[in-house]
Amino acid sequence: PLVSSTPMLQAARAGGYCIGAFNVHTLEMLQAVVEAAVETNSPLIIQSTVGTVKHLGPEYIAAAATVAANSSRIPIALHLDHCTEFDLIVRCIRAGYTSVMIDASHSPFDDNVRQTLRVVEVARPAGVNVEAELGKVGGVEDEIVVAENEALMADPDECAKFVELTGVPTLAPAIGTAHGIYKGEPKIDFDRIGRIAALVDVPLVLHGGSGIPEEQVRRAVSLGMAKMNVATELRIVFSDAIKAVFAKNPEENDPRKYMVPAKQALKEAAIEKMRLCGSFGKA
Ligand code: 13P
Ligand code: ZN
Ligand code: NA
Repeated sequence: PLVSSTPMLQAARAGGYCIGAFNVHTLEMLQAVVEAAVETNSPLIIQSTVGTVKHLGPEYIAAAATVAANSSRIPIALHLDHCTEFDLIVRCIRAGYTSVMIDASHSPFDDNVRQTLRVVEVARPAGVNVEAELGKVGGVEDEIVVAENEALMADPDECAKFVELTGVPTLAPAIGTAHGIYKGEPKIDFDRIGRIAALVDVPLVLHGGSGIPEEQVRRAVSLGMAKMNVATELRIVFSDAIKAVFAKNPEENDPRKYMVPAKQALKEAAIEKMRLCGSFGKA
């Protein structure tokens, strides 16, 4: 069965490694990240954004993820990424999601606390992990758009207060990464990660995983980041492989043919991220 992501993330934080959390949008993408995790014996978090949940339906996604979990020996969690709607969170939990993110980072602190608490109260009895965000991660993720000048770093004291007030089991503090591909390099505030990690003992989540250079990922992980979200790079790799098939053979009309190289390319990209995360052999 699908498992809660809480224990695997706690083990990662304690062990100084990180778990790759991959946004998928099709069955082949889901299968590709599962194969990557199985091959490297890595724990896995499959995630879908609100847009994908609305596109495919949470029940279909949960059913596919459950098949993957039941037919492999690695721990697999299914996570709802960046959700602002309480009702959709409940629907996903009912469908079988084992982890959910309530993203009330656009709201004032007290309101973020209230919304997160409400989700923790329904998720905890169901054995479902909850992730919340403090500060604002810049860039574009589905329907959530944060301009560069609106991005906001999380305050360490607020992080501590937030975790204490909500009991949230995982926290995504904005520390300088952004959704999408960076122009140049990300400007990660490592000092801030360290200060947050010193005050908060829950696993921390690194958003904006696409485009972060290897040594920066490793440094963030060593400071307490236990989950790394990757979306944009995977979509690009997958789509580019399909485009290459059609460039070579515009007449191709068999999804079983044009999806095969895309799945393989995505699998390789996911393995590379798992290597950066240090999750090989941790399943
Ligand atoms: P990227 O699109 O930069 O990989 O960010 C992913 C993410 O944070 C999903 O929540
Ligand atoms: Zn994100
Ligand atoms: Na990014």
